[in-house]
Amino acid sequence: QFVSVILAGGSGERFWPLSRKHKPKQFLSLDHTGSTLLQATAERLLAIHPNTDNLYVITSAEYRGLVLEQLPELPVENLIVEPFARDTAPAVLYATLCLQKRYDNPIIGFFPADHRVTSDERFERCMLRAADAAERHGSLVVLGIEPNFPATGYGYIRRGESVPGRGVYHVSHFAEKPDVETAQAYLDTGVYCWNSGMLVASMNTLLEEFRTHQNELLTVLSAAKNRLSTREAYASTEKISFDYAILEKSKRVHVVPGDFDWDDLGDWNALERLLKNNHGAPSSGRHVGLDTEGVLLYNTNSNELIVTIGLEDVTIVSDKEVTLVVRKERTQDIKKVVQQLKNTP
Ligand code: GDD
Ligand code: MG
Repeated sequence: QFVSVILAGGSGERFWPLSRKHKPKQFLSLDHTGSTLLQATAERLLAIHPNTDNLYVITSAEYRGLVLEQLPELPVENLIVEPFARDTAPAVLYATLCLQKRYDNPIIGFFPADHRVTSDERFERCMLRAADAAERHGSLVVLGIEPNFPATGYGYIRRGESVPGRGVYHVSHFAEKPDVETAQAYLDTGVYCWNSGMLVASMNTLLEEFRTHQNELLTVLSAAKNRLSTREAYASTEKISFDYAILEKSKRVHVVPGDFDWDDLGDWNALERLLKNNHGAPSSGRHVGLDTEGVLLYNTNSNELIVTIGLEDVTIVSDKEVTLVVRKERTQDIKKVVQQLKNTP
């Protein structure tokens, strides 16, 4: 039995100011396709298993309404609500524990809600391969992506020997978000791929891996039996992602290299790449530029004209209340500004 869980509780800070605390990027249609990232993710999964009964979403309490509004076909009881965000390790574990009440050792797929994937057919083939491997080998199976630049926002997977079954490999090393020199060194070896963040494993394997590597988290969350105790359990839990908590430590990770087009809409530069590939028209909004090159303009106010003179490689995002101007090479620093703003009253 295959169950999919969409992870939709992140805060998407690198897409500020469009992605805001009350409406982070997974609830936005950043690439002008009409569907939000969350909706696109659900559609992609329902193409594989049309039954909405086996589709789940986990998010934190503040986004409950947004999920229900954007996915009217999702059964309300399939929305798993965390009291607050503690990153993906608690989210994966809590979802697994909730599913335990309904299924007997299913194969569970976890899917980030912030990706664009083109070529649904290839995606489906890789997913089925991963589900099959998870069942046969009792491993944590991640979907890998062929890297093409030394990205620092991704996990890196070293491909080891192949496992019986087509297109499945052992993972001999997993490194989450290396610095740029390390990322480049990984690329140079030719045997690393990116972690797509998509994961498939059986319920029992997940629970065993949490027991081995995050026993305290397992104990705390397993003890939570109702809403109040779940709140307390979460309050005493540290923020940690599944990548650091489990994937970097586990000895039973397999990878299925994906051959579908994939982009993590991680930041404004990623969005520009994607829009360029799709339509050749990366900018939105009225813009006049004199001696200007490489400007990504994203303006939600259609009446406003933006004029630039002598600028190169900057991103300009203008929303109702905020205008951001950032050199493209410093897009990652948007997170820092958001932190700073959070701390100023
Ligand atoms: N329910 C819930 N609760 N979901 C969360 C939480 C949480 O506390 N925190 C994050 N998520 C969701 C996000 O909304 C997103 O859909 C997904 O989990 C992944 O979280 P990100 O915060 O976007 O992770 P990342 O992009 O920095 O890194 C991950 O994805 C990369 C590929 O996109 C890692 O898995 C990397 O290894 C990977 O390369
Ligand atoms: Mg992400």
